[in-house]
Order: sequence, then C-alpha cells, then structure tokens
Amino acid sequence: MAEKITVSLIKADIGSLAGHHVVHPKQLEMAREILEKAKNKGLIIDYYVFNCGDDLQLLMTHRKGESNPEIHELAWNTFKEVTEKVSKPLKLYAAGQDLLGEAFSGNVRGMGPGVAEMEFEERASDPVLVFAADKTEPGAWNYILFKIFADPFNTAGLVIDPSLHQGFDFHVLDVQEGKEVKIGCPEEMYDLLALIGTPGRYVISKIYRKDGLPAAAASTSRLSLIAGRYVGKDDPICIVRAQHGLPAVGEVLEPFAYPHIVAGWMRGSHHGPLMPVPLKYAKCTRFDGPPRVVGLGFQLHDGVLEGPADLFDDPAFDKARAIANDLADYLRRHGPFMPHRLGPDEMEYTTLPAVLEKLKDRFKHV
Ligand code: F6R
Ligand code: MG
Ligand code: MG
Repeated sequence: MAEKITVSLIKADIGSLAGHHVVHPKQLEMAREILEKAKNKGLIIDYYVFNCGDDLQLLMTHRKGESNPEIHELAWNTFKEVTEKVSKPLKLYAAGQDLLGEAFSGNVRGMGPGVAEMEFEERASDPVLVFAADKTEPGAWNYILFKIFADPFNTAGLVIDPSLHQGFDFHVLDVQEGKEVKIGCPEEMYDLLALIGTPGRYVISKIYRKDGLPAAAASTSRLSLIAGRYVGKDDPICIVRAQHGLPAVGEVLEPFAYPHIVAGWMRGSHHGPLMPVPLKYAKCTRFDGPPRVVGLGFQLHDGVLEGPADLFDDPAFDKARAIANDLADYLRRHGPFMPHRLGPDEMEYTTLPAVLEKLKDRFKHV
C-alpha cells in the first residue's frame, strides 16, 4: 500500500495592509522563503502560499499525518517569524492578531490559527480543491458542503453515479460543547439539517464517503471562544477532493453560484452574502466586505501540488457576484437593524451591556 499523503492548510491573520484589507506582499514572500527551506530539508513535500483578504494561507503536503507536531510547529514558527520580521516593523494592522498562544505546545489548534487537514491515499489522479474565505466564520461552509455532498439537485452524481449513490457521513462539531457527532446522509438528512442550519454553533468538520474515503475537511476553530473575547472572526478554510467517485469539480463549485448569507462582515457582527472571487479580488473593501471566498484547484502527484487553477476566475460566477452586490445593497440599507446586524449572542462587538447599565435607573416598570 502506498504511503499516505497529508494535505494541511493552516492559516492566520497576522496583520495586514490598510486595516483588515489584505496581506502584504512581503508577508507572502517571507512565508514562501520559510516553507521553501522546509521543503529542501524534506519536512514537507510541497507548499503553496496565498491569501484571502487579511488571512495568510499556508498549504502544505507531507507524509506525517494529521495534527503532526513538526508540521504545526512549522506553520506556527512561520506565522511568528513573519509577524516579527514583517508585520511589526511595517506596523501592519493588527500584527500577530491570531497568534493567541505564548509558546507552541505541539498543535496549533486552540492557539488561534485555523486548520483543515486530510490524510489519504493519493489516487491514480487526485484533484484537490481548497477554499478560503474572509470576513465570515466556519459555519459558512455548512450550506456549501451540504449542497455538494447531500443535495441531489446540486450534485447529479449522488443520483446517477453508482459510486456516490450510498451517500456520505458528516462529522458535525458543536463548537460550544466541544463535542462531535457523525450523521449519515441521505438517511439522516433531516437530523443533519436540524443541526447545521445553526451555523454559529454546529459546524461540519469532516466528510467521508460511506466506504471511509476522506472527501472533505474544514476548519472549525472559533477565536472568540478560544480567547473569551473578540479577536476577529475565524475566517474559515476547507479542503475538498473531487472526481472519480466523488463530486465532480463542477458539482463542488456549483453551490457558490448562489451567494448565500453568512455571518461576519463588518466587525464580525453582520450578515452578508458570500461572494466567490478570483485571487486578484481576494481583498475586502465595502463595509469591510462583502465576505469573500477563493477556490484553488490542484492535481496531486506524489504529494506535489500541481497548480493552482483559480476556480472563480470565470464569467460563470459573474452573476453570483452581481447578486451578492445587490444583496449587499439591500442588507446595508438596514443599517444597525437586525437581521443585517447579528443577534446579540453572535455579535463580536457590542455596546449593549454598557448601554443597559447607563439606562438601568431609567427603566420603569409598566
Ligand atoms: C471583521 C474585521 C473588520 C474589523 C473592523 C474594525 O472580521 O476584521 O471588519 O472588525 O475593521 O476593526 P478595529 O476594531 O481593529 O478597528
Ligand atoms: Mg484582520
Ligand atoms: Mg480575515
């Protein structure tokens, strides 16, 4: 049996150019230099460094498995070094924001950075797609991943390809309780939807084909729960394998044609549409948004990342972008009113306790 390959995507916001807008080219450059050295030493097989908005993304391949301390330490040290040598000297905005832990303790999970990892046997030809979003939260993938792996109106293969017909198992994390449950689809579809329709709490973490083949992995961290206070939304990442007994690339991309409403946007406290964009537009502007997602496609060959293909760099997604802009106009007109502004439990910035305190003696019983 061939030695398994692991794809690790680890990201952090360690400061950015012009507020929370975009990663600085020098940050990308230094991260590439560090990962190139790790590749030359044989720690990783290959890497691709990119960004979505203010989040620096380290995509790496290796043979060390998931949650490997050496790989996580490499990512942690890369973020630390780029913070010290680029973000801080250039006084980039919110330098080192997501590096919550003081010293590395074996795994970056729970220390701030977001992680999506998948270990599998490389198939004869293995298309791997990675998605990264800015100004939203891990639950933003719930709708997308459900459509890809459970909705026959999205994924034709669920109905007409015998190798997908059995469906998929979804691992769902309750981010408040720190507990995970496995739910099989299609047989338990309504149970799955009952949970993941609350994306702020129940988050899809992994998806497997019924025969155990790993199909998708997503980041699940919520910085606000780790830190106990607002330190920025956990802009999420996700890895999806495609084709030959899995959803086709086009079936994976199809749900992005509909810019569904996600939580995040300005101050992590507003609902807005998730806009699919090419890398060149992976930077948030209007009202610090609208929330954006990039999709990159690779072919693996013995762990080497051939690519990327910039998947949303296509007029086929122009309409999704136009709808997203219409939705952005529509929602923005609500100003500080819900449902544009998030409910009190989900807001990352709030003055409500202070306002209530100030007014407490003026509230009269009626
Ligand atoms: C949202 C985000 C931004 C900031 C906003 C205020 O995830 O990063 O919308 O929340 O720009 O940032 P501060 O408080 O740093 O001025
Ligand atoms: Mg930021
Ligand atoms: Mg961000």
